[in-house]
Amino acid sequence: MRYGEEIIERVQSLNDIVEIVSSYMPLRRAGKTFKAACPFHQEKTPSFIVNPERQIFHCFGCGAGGDVFSFLMKYENITFPEALKQLAERARVPLPEPNREERQESLAGKLFEINEAAFQYYRKNYEAEGGKAARAYLEKRGFKPQDLADFGIGYALPDWRGLADHLSKKGFGEELLLRSGLVVKSAQGSCYDLLRARVIFPIRNAQGKVVAFGGRIMTQEVPKYINSPETEIFRKRREFYGLNLAKRHIPEEPRMFIVEGYLDQIRLYAAGFRNTVATLGTALTEDHVRILKRYIQEAVLVYDGDKAGESASLRGMEIFLKEGLAVKLLALPAGLDPDDLVRNAGAAEFEKLARGAQDLFDFKLASLMKKFDRKDSLGLLKITGEFLDTFAVIPNAVLLDRYVNRLAAVLGVQTDSIRNELAKLKARKGEGRDAAAAAAPERKEGAAGGPVAEEEFMLLGLLLVEPERLEKVLQEVGADDFHSEESRRVFLTLKALFDEGEKITFNSFFGRLRDESLKPQLSKVTFFEMDELSRDKAVADCLRRIKLKKLEKERTDLERRIAQAESEGREEDLLKCMKQLQTLLASR
Ligand code: CTP
Ligand code: MN
Repeated sequence: MRYGEEIIERVQSLNDIVEIVSSYMPLRRAGKTFKAACPFHQEKTPSFIVNPERQIFHCFGCGAGGDVFSFLMKYENITFPEALKQLAERARVPLPEPNREERQESLAGKLFEINEAAFQYYRKNYEAEGGKAARAYLEKRGFKPQDLADFGIGYALPDWRGLADHLSKKGFGEELLLRSGLVVKSAQGSCYDLLRARVIFPIRNAQGKVVAFGGRIMTQEVPKYINSPETEIFRKRREFYGLNLAKRHIPEEPRMFIVEGYLDQIRLYAAGFRNTVATLGTALTEDHVRILKRYIQEAVLVYDGDKAGESASLRGMEIFLKEGLAVKLLALPAGLDPDDLVRNAGAAEFEKLARGAQDLFDFKLASLMKKFDRKDSLGLLKITGEFLDTFAVIPNAVLLDRYVNRLAAVLGVQTDSIRNELAKLKARKGEGRDAAAAAAPERKEGAAGGPVAEEEFMLLGLLLVEPERLEKVLQEVGADDFHSEESRRVFLTLKALFDEGEKITFNSFFGRLRDESLKPQLSKVTFFEMDELSRDKAVADCLRRIKLKKLEKERTDLERRIAQAESEGREEDLLKCMKQLQTLLASR
């Protein structure tokens, strides 16, 4: 559903950004703006600033920024339409009801619909006569119907085109069927179902919408599981199986068990450990940890005791520390997964093991002590080396202090020597970074992955603050002078608003160009409090650098053409290019 610019602006104007942000975290007044510790990254000194006048926020630590919609989307991990809906409700602005066509307008919307339809289909099969085998399979594995009630387990018939035909009949086109990944096309060009003769685990996102499916075969055949692929609405590096259910129980239980399998999650949930989620066949990612952090205070990684030592959990420890989320490791007896354990030994046994869960730091230390001898100086170096890299990413000084002390005590060395080594490591890393930054000042990656020229966004941000400068700037540069795709788009949007005589503000601008990824880059610039004189100078500097770059590019082009003409003996071209180069150099 695409809402009009007026309604978006109306909702925005009725939701003061300061009020919204303060409902999530405390804000402190600092002159004309408000300050806080950034909720999007770990920090000691507040670099998160809210500007009530312009109704935007920006974090100078992590670069997050934008308007009230961006804040809500990022904080709650929701989409723009969802943020709009929440804020509209808060301001009591009725939103127009999407009709069926409009709901189907976006690809994401269509994918949600097709997944929901597939869910209904699999579900019906499971409950019908044809689903007997699937029900018997789960029963044999010790799952009672009431254990499975919340999960909407389904069944894919052995047919080649059961789902494909069903969805086509419901009016979904072939392209969408293929886009969902639930239907695939053979080399001969015929379509068939991805999942056949399998127990179906619907995968729901945190909001409870079905976004993908996992399917388990009921025999010893391989592959054991087939999962629907990633789509616009399903990224397995960000989703957890069971989060939609587990998150309801967080108020009672602020820690979360993280397991590896669908059936592990279902078993623990059914056994009363409702605060359990499963990853989806990937190692934990930074996105995962950031999402968890929003809900809980402590993560407990549950691993097969055999695999825990070398598991990704140890390498992944840094991710948790970086985000400042406490993490423990629950190592199960070798060869057992949580499902096996609870089924064989009962919930009480799992509870006991959970109470003994070890801080991941201690676990890592213990396993390294087993591997290396700390009395041997090489062994000591190995152990400290492992930890220094980890320590270097901890932003929280209190946490760092605690770990340094513990490591020193266990290894029998002075805390100061660990601190010294850490300082040296950080200096080395810092130097490396600064040197790299100096060597390639504008090779910074933009939000969309392209190279972003700092001065281009600086100029555009300044124009957004003072659109009255636009007329003059338009006389000096054109869209071609902006060499990043993103800044060109911003420039063209500004120009269009100007040409149409529209009033230019941060809000009207983003009403026109709905692109969240651009907001942080532009909100940053609009926060620089500059006086008239320095703004004049900043605009002039940016223009000069943009033009200089253009000349630079023309020069290298000419030099290349000269070299080519020379090697190919094209005298006439050679002379022509050399003349052009001379004129160019004289003009600077
Ligand atoms: N997995 C997968 N593809 C496979 C095997 C595993 O996607 N071929 C993913 C699934 O999400 C699965 C998880 O990895 O749930 C854990 O795999 P595994 O431990 O092998 O399976 P279990 O979940 O224990 O399933 P079961 O108990 O039925 O063997
Ligand atoms: Mn298992």
